[in-house]
Amino acid sequence: MPLDTTSHDIPVARTAADLRATVAEWRKMGETVALVPTMGALHEGHLSLVDLARKKTDRVVVSVFVNPTQFAPHEDFSAYPRTEAADAARLAGKADLIFAPDAGDMYPDGFSTTISLTGVAEPLEGTFRPTHFAGVATVVAKLILRAQADVAIFGEKDWQQLAVIRRMVADLDIPVEILGGPIMREADGLAMSSRNVYLTPDERKAAGQLNVILKETAASVSSGIPITEATRAGAARILALGFNQIDYLEIRDAASLAEFPSGHPTSPARILVAAKISRTRLIDNMPV
Ligand code: PAJ
Repeated sequence: MPLDTTSHDIPVARTAADLRATVAEWRKMGETVALVPTMGALHEGHLSLVDLARKKTDRVVVSVFVNPTQFAPHEDFSAYPRTEAADAARLAGKADLIFAPDAGDMYPDGFSTTISLTGVAEPLEGTFRPTHFAGVATVVAKLILRAQADVAIFGEKDWQQLAVIRRMVADLDIPVEILGGPIMREADGLAMSSRNVYLTPDERKAAGQLNVILKETAASVSSGIPITEATRAGAARILALGFNQIDYLEIRDAASLAEFPSGHPTSPARILVAAKISRTRLIDNMPV
C-alpha cells in the first residue's frame, strides 16, 4: 500500500508493513534510524526529543499512537487529545516519517503477549497505575522492533518510564540505544504535558507552582532536613494550592528508585510527584 501523503508534508505510515518498507529503503542505503514514540498532541517537549533524534541519526521516525493498553478503564483514554493534523504540521521538516497505526494493526485479533515487569516498575506509578507499565513496555518493544530503530528517545518527564524502558531493553536483549531528553517547561516551570489542556485557568495557575514546591523540597533535603519531614511539608503545600489528591511525593535513588532507609540521600537522588488537580493527574520530577 502506498504511504498516505495526501494531507501533510510528511509521509504517514499506517501499518507495520508500510513502516518496514520505508525503513528497509533507508537501511539499504546504510542510514541509521531513530524512533521517538509519542501519543500525539505534540508540544515543545516532544519536539525537543525529535531535535535530539535529528542530531543522532540519519532518519527520524515519530510514532503517534494513543496506546489503549497503558490506560486503566477509569483513566482518560477516550478524552486523551487527538490532534493528528496539527501534529503532522509540527513534524514537517523535523521528522522523516510518522508512524500512526490503528489499534487493530498494533493489536490484531488473538494478540496475547504482554511484558511483565518487576523492580523499577513496581513503586510510585506502579503502585497507583498497576497495569500501566506492562502496556507501555509492550507497545514500546513493538514500536522499536517494527521501526528497527538504532536509537529510541524518551523524555525525563516520565522518569520512571525511562528507567523501565532501559531495564526492559537490557533484559530482553533488544538491540537499541535508549536516550533520555531533558524536561521542557512552560515559562512558570510547569512541565509541558499533553494533559495540561485539561486544566481550567485557575488550575493551570496552581499547577505552575508544583515545580516550585518540588525545587524547594529538594533544596531542603539537600540542606539536611530528613526526607519524610521535607516531603510531608511539601505535600501539605501542594494540597494548599488546590490539588485534591497526591499519589506520591517522594525522594528516591535516581537510577533504582529505591528508598533511602537512612532518611537522607546517600546516592544521586530524584524527587518525583504525581498529584491530581480536579480530575487531571500531573507528574513531574527533578534532581535533588
Ligand atoms: P507521551 O506522553 O506522548 O510522551 C512521549 C514522549 O515525550 C515520552 O518519552 C515523554 O517522556 C516525552 N515528554 C513528554 N513531555 C515532555 C516534556 N515536557 N519534556 C520532555 N519530554 C517530554 O510517554 C508516552 O507518550 C507513552 O507512554 C509512550 C512512550 C509513547 C508509549 O505509549
